[in-house]
Amino acid sequence: MKTIQQQVIETAIFIQPRLKKPLDIGLLTGTGLSETLSSLKVIWEINYQDLPNFPQTTVESHRGKLVYGTLAGKSILVMQGRFHLYEGYTPQEVTFPIRLMQELKIKTLILSNAAGGINLNFSPGDIMLISDHINLTGRNPLLGPQEPKWGIQFPDMTRVYDKGLMNLARKAAANNDLILREGIYAGLLGPSLETPGETRFLKIIGGDAVGFSTIMEAIAGVHAGMKILGLSLITNINNPDAPEQTTLEAVVETAQKASKKMNQLLDDIISQMI
Ligand code: HPA
Repeated sequence: MKTIQQQVIETAIFIQPRLKKPLDIGLLTGTGLSETLSSLKVIWEINYQDLPNFPQTTVESHRGKLVYGTLAGKSILVMQGRFHLYEGYTPQEVTFPIRLMQELKIKTLILSNAAGGINLNFSPGDIMLISDHINLTGRNPLLGPQEPKWGIQFPDMTRVYDKGLMNLARKAAANNDLILREGIYAGLLGPSLETPGETRFLKIIGGDAVGFSTIMEAIAGVHAGMKILGLSLITNINNPDAPEQTTLEAVVETAQKASKKMNQLLDDIISQMI
């Protein structure tokens, strides 16, 4: 059996000759946000199922497509559709796209997701700049035997989300008259949603938003030495004192409605990058 490292190298060897120039940015999109980056000049698209060794997405709201293109002179690889722990994937499988990006020498990673709002000042449709995260999944992509080529065993996690990229996001929001919230993303395993008691707990420990993705990818990204930008689209508000039911359909609908805003923001952020 091939190791994950061997699989990543094989997939990178498949992609490398298809690139016109070295990659600058990797973007991983979340629920309902697949259409982000309308101004991306697409050079090619490949379905995950046509890529060697690529895990397959099992969630309908996430398409599985790798898109290569340019935006504002930058060479960008977009993974439309991610892998979640709740689908039964291992942390290594969930972070396969990040390792592939690492092998392809990507230094800037943008992670977007849909999340529930815990901060009651937020509203559905808001975008939150992730300033930090709390890993409550009980999983870690660095667990187990180490691949020294990928990074050190005990990476510092005091600055996961890059300050410079956060500043660009703030500027981009101002340029586009968009409200940009900021806060801490609490990452759970899922897939069952939070009980009011759990939401209260998340609030007490400092969470502003909650979701089931992003954390594994951010840890692998730090390990890989990437600069990371994280953006959450707040699709619903979880108030433990007045709990309202949340459905996947409502989450996807709100994410899709707000995806234009996310798109605008990402376009502007990428355009400002040097
Ligand atoms: N909880 C977890 N994940 C989510 C939520 C939520 O309320 N909304 C969107 N993704």
